[in-house]
Amino acid sequence: MNDLPPCPPAECPALPAGFAIRPARFTDAAAIFHRIKAYPDELVPRPISEIMLNIDRFLVAVDPADQVIGTVAWSVLPELDPQALPSVEIQSLTVRHEDRRRGLGRALVARAMERIARLHARQVIVLTFTPPFFASLGFEVVSKEQLLYKLFQGCMKCAKYTSPFTCPEVAMARQLAPL
Ligand SMILES: CC(C)(COP(=O)(O)OP(=O)(O)OC[C@H]1O[C@@H](n2cnc3c(N)ncnc32)[C@H](O)[C@@H]1OP(=O)(O)O)[C@@H](O)C(=O)NCCC(=O)NCCS
Repeated sequence: MNDLPPCPPAECPALPAGFAIRPARFTDAAAIFHRIKAYPDELVPRPISEIMLNIDRFLVAVDPADQVIGTVAWSVLPELDPQALPSVEIQSLTVRHEDRRRGLGRALVARAMERIARLHARQVIVLTFTPPFFASLGFEVVSKEQLLYKLFQGCMKCAKYTSPFTCPEVAMARQLAPL
């Protein structure tokens, strides 16, 4: 079931017994949709059709019954400089409320970071309401101005805030060494 390569132990905590993180499948799309929708204040909702189109950029955490209890996705951001390596945004990170604080969120991000590092991306960024969680994973706060041209696609579609500068989400980044 879990066909991901081993995660470096220093980065990736042990999962609770019977839980696993695996690449998402088309059959997980509805469950992913509901996991994201469960956090309307923290996450941008995504239509099932869009989840299906990007299913190869999702990992899921599953419980012993293979029920999806967590999700993470990534998106390659536009890069204007042909000499520069692209940045990648972590998106749609969720852990079911009753399974929070068991290391699953950290493990999902670590697995996603490993996949992204294999692409030789320059950095991973995130817009978040939980800076302490991402700080514990090596992310540092960066100015939105610095990232705006990369984030503009997402911000252009945002119907929650009038401007990226009134949006309370904090921009954070972690530089990557290629695997
Ligand atoms: C953020 C989220 C994914 C974390 O998942 P999790 O499985 O609870 O995280 P972990 O158990 O791996 O937490 C690891 C550490 O991160 C920190 N942390 C976790 N959640 C935190 C939160 N909400 N606020 C501050 N610190 C947090 C803690 O230091 C925690 O260690 P501790 O439990 O020993 O104190 C989860 O709370 C969630 O789904 N939140 C709602 C959606 C969301 O905000 N997603 C992120 C959008 S960018």
